Amino acid sequence: MRVLGIESSCDETAAAVYDGSAGLLSNVVSSQVKVHAAYGGVVPELASREHLKSVVPVVEKALADAGSGRDAIDGIAATAGPGLIGSLLVGLCFAKSLSFAWEKPVCGVDHLESHVYAVFLESEVVFPYVALLVSGGHTSLFRVTGWEAMRFLGGTLDDAAGEAFDKAAKMMGVGYPGGVAIDRLSQGADPARYRFPRAWLSHDSADFSFSGLKTALRTFLASPEGAAAKVEDVAASFQEAIVDVLAGKALAAAKREGIPRLVLSGGVSANSRLRLLARERGAAEGVDVYLPSRSLCTDNAAMVALLGERRMSAGSRSGPELNAYAASRFTR
Ligand SMILES: Nc1ncnc2c1ncn2[C@@H]1O[C@H](COP(=O)(O)OP(=O)(O)OP(=O)(O)O)[C@@H](O)[C@H]1O
Ligand SMILES: [Mg+2]
Repeated sequence: MRVLGIESSCDETAAAVYDGSAGLLSNVVSSQVKVHAAYGGVVPELASREHLKSVVPVVEKALADAGSGRDAIDGIAATAGPGLIGSLLVGLCFAKSLSFAWEKPVCGVDHLESHVYAVFLESEVVFPYVALLVSGGHTSLFRVTGWEAMRFLGGTLDDAAGEAFDKAAKMMGVGYPGGVAIDRLSQGADPARYRFPRAWLSHDSADFSFSGLKTALRTFLASPEGAAAKVEDVAASFQEAIVDVLAGKALAAAKREGIPRLVLSGGVSANSRLRLLARERGAAEGVDVYLPSRSLCTDNAAMVALLGERRMSAGSRSGPELNAYAASRFTR
């Protein structure tokens, strides 16, 4: 099957075409970073309006790049949730309208699932695997046993890791999006210069907590030592506290599950230090670590088109009642 995928869950309007035989044919992302930068975070109402402006040109470009007219498209997949409800509705309603006008089937896909399966765009991972989904809104571990089977093992009790990066960058005044800014600042800086707390929770817990770390940074920045500190070393030390826990807990979960395969997914898995640590520690512990390209970690529609193609090829279809949802379906 050849599927057009549409993603609009947060602040990226994206469209892609994935073909079950030929693979990924196009992948277009229009970012709203400049629109939200002045606010230091995504403003939901502005995000919806930007999606409205971008969705038609982005879909047209994805079709043109793929050399596909509507006749070559067998189905349309769109992110149904979780995410910002206004943003989701723009992409989803557009997909449903196209489905009606083109007389092609439509399939709603889950944003978290599409992150977790994005790795298949580049690698044929063997099931089962453990997935760390670490993004702006989520930090969770899953046991993934098939295309329809993802079991929640644990997740953050408070902030997502991406949220911690973004809020920390705002406190330090170093730019937006925060994770990217902190990653860049940390290059060449000393990650052991300051010791920020790591919340390991109980010995075998697959849960995470980053709110204490955020408070520790705020307290440190307000102290005389913090005021005199080199911002690069603060960024690197803060980043180290996050990625140490992410890599440590993800590898521990893989070992507990008896699965020697770990897949990283979501925007924070674009982080250079996390990628290095996960790869090094995985090699030392006999766990194969899969790292999708950075552009496939952050929000994109290639992962939506891929998951849509797999699901629709297996007979999955959504009806006219298909609607957007804001909250995650994967809970403890
Ligand atoms: N190099 C990086 N280092 C650390 N964090 C990063 C990096 N690149 C992006 N991020 C973070 O990734 C997050 C965005 O990821 P993504 O686009 O997957 O999240 P989202 O779609 O907003 O959230 P979710 O997928 O949970 O709905 C932001 O918090 C951003 O700061
Ligand atoms: Mg995302």
